[in-house]
Amino acid sequence: MSDVQSWVPQSVDVSVPSAARVYDYLLGGAHNFAVDRMMGAKVEEMMPTARSGARVNRAFLRRAVRFMADQGVRQFLDIGSGIPTVSNVHEVAQELYPESRVLYVDRDPVAVAHSELILAGNDRTGVLQADMRDPDSILNSGEATRLLDFDQPIGVLMLFVVHWVPTEADPWGLLKRYREALAGGSYLAISHFSDDHGNVAATEATVKMSQAGGGEIVERSRDEITALFGDFELVDPGVVRYAEWRTSGPGDISDDPLVNAIAYAGVARKP
Ligand SMILES: C[S@@+](CC[C@H](N)C(=O)[O-])C[C@H]1O[C@@H](n2cnc3c(N)ncnc32)[C@H](O)[C@@H]1O
Repeated sequence: MSDVQSWVPQSVDVSVPSAARVYDYLLGGAHNFAVDRMMGAKVEEMMPTARSGARVNRAFLRRAVRFMADQGVRQFLDIGSGIPTVSNVHEVAQELYPESRVLYVDRDPVAVAHSELILAGNDRTGVLQADMRDPDSILNSGEATRLLDFDQPIGVLMLFVVHWVPTEADPWGLLKRYREALAGGSYLAISHFSDDHGNVAATEATVKMSQAGGGEIVERSRDEITALFGDFELVDPGVVRYAEWRTSGPGDISDDPLVNAIAYAGVARKP
C-alpha cells in the first residue's frame, strides 16, 4: 500500500479502518490511510457534522485539562487517547506547568506508534498500549510507575472512549477500579456519546463509526453517564452537553444544535 509510512508497525493491518485514524481524519490530522478516509467520508455522509463533533470534544479536553491544572494537578492519565493531534493533554498542561507529567494509553497500535514519535524527547510523557477493560495492565504498568505518583492527585481523562466499553463488560465496575486507585484530590473527566438527542441519522453514523472501532459504540443516557463518576463529587456545572461544560468561547461550541447534543461530559473530584 503506497501510503504506508515507515512508522507503522508491521503487525498493523492498514487495510482495516481504525477508530483512532478515522478520528484523526475527522480532526483534520495527517495520520490516516485511504481506508480510514473512506470510512470517515461515510461517517460524514451520514452525519455531515461529525468533524465538528470531534472538534467540540477536543475543545472540552482543553478546558478539562486547564481546569485540573488550575486545581493543582500536575500528572495526567489519558485513557483512549487516540492519535496525538493538535492540543494534546501534555501540550495544554506543560504549557501552563512544564513539570506536568502525562501518560497516554490506547489499545490501537497505530495510535501508540504515533504517540511514541510525537512524544520522543519529552521524558515527562509516555504512552502505553493497553485496553482500558484491564485496569491492572494500566495501573501497574512500568510507565505508570515511572510517570505517576498514585499518592498524589492525578487527572484521569476518558474522553470519547467509554462508549466503546460494552455494557456486558460493566463500565461502572471498571470505572470504580480506576477511581479506587486514585488519591484524594484527583479528578476524572469523561465525555460520552448519548442516545437522548433523538436523531436517527446521528445514531446511524455512530453505528458506522462502531465498525471502525473494533466494537460497538454504546450510546448511554445522562444518568448512566453520571453513574460512571460514582462517589466522586461533580464540579460545576455537573454532567452537561459536552459543548456546554464551562464553555469559554465560540470555538468550544458548534453552530449545529445536533452536534452539541450528541455527547455529555463532566469532571468530578475524589473527596
Ligand atoms: C474517538 S478516539 C478519542 C481520542 C481522545 N480521547 C479524544 O477525546 O480526543 C477513541 C480512542 O479510544 C481508543 N479505545 C477504544 N476502546 C478502547 C479500550 N477498550 N481501551 C483503550 N483504548 C480504547 C480507540 O483506539 C481510539 O483511539
